Amino acid sequence: MELTNKTILVVGGATGIGKATAIECAQRGASVIVADYNQIEGAATAASCGGMYVPVNVADEASVKAMYAAIGEHHDHINVLVQTAGVLKGAYVPVPEFPLETFENVIDINATGSFLCAKYGVPFIKKSGGGVIVLISSVAAIGVSSSVAYGTSKGAVSSLGVTLANKLAADNIRVNVVHPGGIKTYMKLSVIGAEAELRGGSSEQAISQAAAGSELGEPEGVAKILAFLASDEADYVRGFLFTR
Ligand SMILES: NC(=O)c1ccc[n+]([C@@H]2O[C@H](COP(=O)([O-])OP(=O)(O)OC[C@H]3O[C@@H](n4cnc5c(N)ncnc54)[C@H](O)[C@@H]3O)[C@@H](O)[C@H]2O)c1
Repeated sequence: MELTNKTILVVGGATGIGKATAIECAQRGASVIVADYNQIEGAATAASCGGMYVPVNVADEASVKAMYAAIGEHHDHINVLVQTAGVLKGAYVPVPEFPLETFENVIDINATGSFLCAKYGVPFIKKSGGGVIVLISSVAAIGVSSSVAYGTSKGAVSSLGVTLANKLAADNIRVNVVHPGGIKTYMKLSVIGAEAELRGGSSEQAISQAAAGSELGEPEGVAKILAFLASDEADYVRGFLFTR
């Protein structure tokens, strides 16, 4: 499976699954664009992929428009959008105490951010005659989440994906939604630390044990799936995928 001649935009590519995906795609010959609001690590990932870095806050429409304007100065099209940017806030906060502000912020980034990246990305993908959009939901979408906001937002991402798949099929744009399980990234390890603290244990110890253990998957494992979905070989794949 190779990605030569593909221009792939990885949103959320500074760290974790997005970073691993950007590197995997670049190794398979793609021209990679890394977008993220973490400027230092985003630029570092882009440099390691030989690609360009673009700053973005996916929750801000003007920022998403500016991201595509910056991309448009160097690329007249993209073949693939992989939208991995996301946050998990409010882990283990009881529902009656969950702040509305946190709930809205998580929805804005995870769900609205995915919509905005797709909305302004479609014209770029259409310029290449069609292509692929991959959204990252989570097993949290089907009810197993430490945060009511995160679970809700990922349910919205999954539904966004099936709706986009239906609406964009006529434009020859395939949309897949990947639902990772527990993956060894900053996001997941932070939640493990928070859970340990709640139980009166040491956050640092829990994080280092989880990071060293094999219970969680590696971001590179998910990245291989995302790179496959970006490829022409995945043409027959439709809808949702679940990973470990
Ligand atoms: N790690 C897991 O166990 C797991 C499981 C299921 C789903 N996911 C999903 O995978 C995706 C990647 O997460 P990860 O685990 O690699 O964690 P991560 O924290 O390493 O990566 C998230 C990336 O999104 C970026 N980001 C966050 N908010 C942003 C914003 N407003 N605008 C632009 N960029 C922003 C961050 O800077 C970071 O680079 C997320 O959507 C997450 O919900 C992760």
